[in-house]
Amino acid sequence: MPRSFALNLLTWYNKHKRDLPWRRTKDPYHIWVSEIMLQQTTVNAVIPYYQGWIKTYPTVFDLARAPLQKVLKSWQGLGYYNRAKNLHKAAAIVASNYQGQLPQEAHLVRHLPGFGPYTTGSVLSIAYDKPLVIIDANVRRLVMRLLAVKARADTRQDKTIEHFLNKVLPSQRAGDFNQALMEIGALVCRHKEPLCSLCPLKKFCKAYALGLQEIIPTPQKKIIQDIHGVIAIIERQGKYLIQKRPSSGLLADLWEFPGGKIKPGENKTRALARELKEELNVELKRVKHLFDLKHFYTQFRVNLSVFACQLKSYPAAQTKKKWVKSSDFAQYPMPSGSAKIVDRLFNPSPSGFRMTLGARNSKKLATKSQKT
Ligand code: ADE
Repeated sequence: MPRSFALNLLTWYNKHKRDLPWRRTKDPYHIWVSEIMLQQTTVNAVIPYYQGWIKTYPTVFDLARAPLQKVLKSWQGLGYYNRAKNLHKAAAIVASNYQGQLPQEAHLVRHLPGFGPYTTGSVLSIAYDKPLVIIDANVRRLVMRLLAVKARADTRQDKTIEHFLNKVLPSQRAGDFNQALMEIGALVCRHKEPLCSLCPLKKFCKAYALGLQEIIPTPQKKIIQDIHGVIAIIERQGKYLIQKRPSSGLLADLWEFPGGKIKPGENKTRALARELKEELNVELKRVKHLFDLKHFYTQFRVNLSVFACQLKSYPAAQTKKKWVKSSDFAQYPMPSGSAKIVDRLFNPSPSGFRMTLGARNSKKLATKSQKT
């Protein structure tokens, strides 16, 4: 079984693999970049980011000497900015300790920032043909079906999966073996409506034999939290106020408009006034609602209400607060939610509608004794 399993898999891969930019290189640094990006989003979404990245930072040395802010800007839109920070840190280590060449030994690579078991296995197997197996969500689903494991697809299954993969791993072409499993997971053994008739592994698949492929793995119970927030667009003399998030925690070091979560029992204007007081120590004078937008993160659905705000007095620029012209937003790495707001404000929509941020139609704020 092990030999014919790998043979069927690799023959299928030779014929059906997608022609992807990182499959045209053997450069370990390029493969490493692609594997980090592919942990963030789909293959199609990664392609332009990967191509842009390799153009901007063609070698480990180029990445190592780039300023973090520029690196984060290049990453903008991919999410999980810690991955970009770790890539940057690890590039500096590889540049200075390993002459720019990613080591081949798993124990050395594992010490680099951002290299967990998945990244170590995928990069070393693809770049150096090291015999390491890997488990991502596609591989987990595929093997659970092969073994007819009736359970949720989570890391509790990984010992069984790893044991199976090590039995069928061929002695050569570990990188192709791993990529082929991911490719079948993505294209054939799909989450919904798997295409079993096209699968080169169906004769090894217990779920297929038992007709259970549609109900393995057991569906996850998804808990998505709804978050409501308010955002302040503060304009003065053609410049807009943005501030830098703290250097640790969620979306660290990114720039965003002032604002925050609405607290239970608060209305939007009150939340806005409170956030501006807390964050900038300023008083709100007038507000005008501009638009609402939704943004989806893995575990959250963020509902943002965006307001043009006039203040009683305006804060001065500091290291972590800047007044920025709309044409300069491109230099500031922002979370995707804030980047969407910039798009809505400054890139006219197809209907030609353009936001006006002025005070016309704005609402003068109630004094403290009035309810808003
Ligand atoms: N997902 C993670 N790594 C991949 C690769 N090398 N090719 C396609 N999909 C992937």
